[in-house]
Amino acid sequence: MNAAPQGGVPGTRPEGIRDEGEAAAHVREMFGRIAPRYDLLNHLLSLDIDKVWRHRVAKRFSAILRDPRARVLDLCCGTGDLALAFRKEEPDGAEIVGSDFVPEMLVRARAKAGAGGANIEFVEADALALPFDDSSFDLVSCSFGFRNLANYERGLREIFRVLKPGGVVAILEFAEPRGKLFGGVYRFYFRRVLPRLGALISGNGSAYTYLPNSVSKFPLPETLQAQFVRAGYEDARFERWTGGIVTLHTARKR
Ligand SMILES: C[S@@+](CC[C@H](N)C(=O)[O-])C[C@H]1O[C@@H](n2cnc3c(N)ncnc32)[C@H](O)[C@@H]1O
Repeated sequence: MNAAPQGGVPGTRPEGIRDEGEAAAHVREMFGRIAPRYDLLNHLLSLDIDKVWRHRVAKRFSAILRDPRARVLDLCCGTGDLALAFRKEEPDGAEIVGSDFVPEMLVRARAKAGAGGANIEFVEADALALPFDDSSFDLVSCSFGFRNLANYERGLREIFRVLKPGGVVAILEFAEPRGKLFGGVYRFYFRRVLPRLGALISGNGSAYTYLPNSVSKFPLPETLQAQFVRAGYEDARFERWTGGIVTLHTARKR
């Protein structure tokens, strides 16, 4: 069951934190601390399925990625894996920019892009106050970052602002699978096993308790879809992947 009061979730609120500023500071500090082990844990805890999901997003938007006149922004890019999957999909295509507000993540993203000869610009920026012009991107993506924003509505509006008319947003986020059997097994793994493994390897227990907690409080796909519409998007859709472990949300700016 998703414990979120439907329609009434302003943004992430880690345990014991009440306001937006504090939530953002907590998230920033937490990701700064886990950055050195972030990639290892990501791949290990997801059994490498995270790579398949990013590849699938890249395939979905290959037409935009192929266009050398297109501009793509990967928000909350972390260590850059989605931006790198985009570049791998179309090595000579669109201009790709990755942004994140944690410098420790960006250092790793730049090193990976440099090592692979991938032409991607990485910029330090808060997703709720982007340093980009209105109507400047054809695609804005965000994998596993949106849930961590302190204000979802503001996040959607800021993405809308930087999208060109006709531009598309794609948000990939964790969700809780609904089926009784698979849902039960998954919840056991996600709530009991993953936090212990995460704590052991990253040395940061709270970050991997925060993960399942934030997913259970995150709006249901139907609720987020309605938020897209309220923020002015058209053609807001979502699809569940891998038994509902993740959801891809897409929408368009008219
Ligand atoms: C779970 S990681 C996801 C990273 C990457 N997109 C991936 O697929 O692995 C979430 C990222 O969101 C970033 N983040 C959270 N809130 C942010 C904000 N308000 N502005 C910019 N980045 C933010 C964190 O710093 C972190 O790197």
